[in-house]
Amino acid sequence: MTTLEKDGSHKELKVNFYATTCPNAEDLVAKEMKQIQAEDPTVMASLIRLHFHDCFVRGCDASILLDSGSGTEEKDATPSLSLRGFDTIERIKRVLENACPKVVSCADILTLAAREAVFLSQGPRYDVETGRRDGSTSIAKETYTNLPPVNGSISAIIGVYAKKNLTTKDVAVLSGAHSLGVSHCSSFSYRLYNYTGTGITDPTLNNKYAEKLKKQCSPTDNNTIVPMDPDNPLTFGLGYFKSVLNRQGLFNSDEALLHNKATRAYVAAQASAMSSQQFFDDFTQSMVNMGRVNVLTGTSGVIRSVCGAYY
Ligand code: HEM
Repeated sequence: MTTLEKDGSHKELKVNFYATTCPNAEDLVAKEMKQIQAEDPTVMASLIRLHFHDCFVRGCDASILLDSGSGTEEKDATPSLSLRGFDTIERIKRVLENACPKVVSCADILTLAAREAVFLSQGPRYDVETGRRDGSTSIAKETYTNLPPVNGSISAIIGVYAKKNLTTKDVAVLSGAHSLGVSHCSSFSYRLYNYTGTGITDPTLNNKYAEKLKKQCSPTDNNTIVPMDPDNPLTFGLGYFKSVLNRQGLFNSDEALLHNKATRAYVAAQASAMSSQQFFDDFTQSMVNMGRVNVLTGTSGVIRSVCGAYY
């Protein structure tokens, strides 16, 4: 039995938790997100990633947002440095504080914003459970052991997910979020120039694709960003699975999906699917599963009024 099953805190989450306490909360998030997308559609991907990083480290408790300026919090850890969207969450929080002060948690705003981001990027729109409360602890070093490793084997990645009560299927399905957004060259350039420290190109990476990436990313480039699904970086869909099957996944963690029978089968099925419906249904379920990880509910945790601040 896992910690999650033991504490069962996610059972206190429910769809439309704010129906009586802040009836317009979800509409207000949706409206603001539409405006945010019109201003900068690339933020959509960043918000989905922010929710993932929040949930994997200390649960979906908005600890990723805490910022005392001390340099010791989750957002200061190396894998967090390319996260974006913190201001966007504060912007939505301000709208909700105007409507219903100290009612809607930052953890729920992250969940609701991710849901809208998927939908606005032409993915499914799904019901999300709410009722999370915010934590008041954020420790940079917890990030390193709780996030799946970008250069990890499939069994290491499945192991990290399992600790969050997430399945092998969730690994394959949630990885599909990489159909949206961008990566810095620095996150994968070791695959181009110095794979396993031996100065070679990762032989599992499609040759032509590796050459194309080398033109975009020099060995020391820390600034350039490249789309993870070059054909459709702003559209949520099956492109990611096609890329992975063609050995054009940017990260070792993407390529790793081909090294487990179940994850490989999922990638292959979605890469040749006639419709995105199955993936959309699966993604909906896996996002709900991820949104349940180690949540604070009931009288645990707090409702912050500024998401980055400890009050
Ligand atoms: C094995 C698991 C995963 C690993 C190792 C991983 C790693 C990464 C890395 C290295 C980047 C690029 C960062 C940069 O250099 O800018 C990235 C981007 C991204 N990831 Fe993941 N990720 C994983 C799972 C997930 C999951 C579960 C989600 C969401 C459900 C997700 C959503 C995203 C999105 C949307 C982006 C693009 C962000 C943007 O454009 O700002 N990832 N990921």
